[in-house]
Amino acid sequence: MLLQLNNIFKWVNSGGQRIFLLKDINLEVEEGEFISVMGPSGSGKSTLLNVIGMLDTFDEGEYNFLHESVHTLKEKHRANLYKEYIGFVFQSYHLLDDLTVKENLEMPLLYKKFKGSERKAIVADMLDRFNIVGKKDLFPSQLSGGQQQLVGVARALVANPKLILADEPTGNLNSQQSEEIMQLFKKLNEEDGVTIIQVTHSEQNAAYGSRIINLLDGRKV
Ligand SMILES: Nc1ncnc2c1ncn2[C@@H]1O[C@H](COP(=O)(O)OP(=O)(O)OP(=O)(O)O)[C@@H](O)[C@H]1O
Ligand SMILES: [Mg+2]
Repeated sequence: MLLQLNNIFKWVNSGGQRIFLLKDINLEVEEGEFISVMGPSGSGKSTLLNVIGMLDTFDEGEYNFLHESVHTLKEKHRANLYKEYIGFVFQSYHLLDDLTVKENLEMPLLYKKFKGSERKAIVADMLDRFNIVGKKDLFPSQLSGGQQQLVGVARALVANPKLILADEPTGNLNSQQSEEIMQLFKKLNEEDGVTIIQVTHSEQNAAYGSRIINLLDGRKV
């Protein structure tokens, strides 16, 4: 078992009322699974992915990741788990604005303490694989939305994560680029055993996975 959510609730208080963002979510994910999360806008897909990625807390329930009880961990320990095991593709890219494409890609490798020469080689390979060599010295603001998304996907994969969490990773890509990214995910999943959880609105993308989780109003349906 890679991870397990037990009775997870997340809410915000508004005008004396609890508004539930996640409601009684139970989920077990085995290593090597490829899961798609679907559901209408506002149903809690990003919230769920952020909780699984340890980027967001929750109010009730238990979360076990590998051999750790995430709900009892200190912030710093959680952050270390994230850096060690997770590659996250954000819905809105979250690239660092004052770093170049090359420097953005290097970031996860710095956290993992790769040597300078290794970092250079891995980043060069990523730039090549994603067809963005010509963009390496540009800043995110100098890229199109689709190009930023590609950099976001490349950054999530660069440090060989055990788990890829991808929030609409192809939302801004053309159909050919989307298919290339899905093929790449499929290859990482099948050949390298990487576990993938992706949020998608596309039936076509969801079909690359082996299981679909549907959300509605913060609940699994
Ligand atoms: N910090 C917050 N405070 C109040 N409401 C929030 C907060 N974060 C999220 N929400 C609400 O929780 C609901 C779920 O949001 P979420 O971003 O998870 O939806 P989503 O399924 O990812 O939608 P989309 O497909 O549009 O990306 C939304 O109604 C959103 O407004
Ligand atoms: Mg979302």
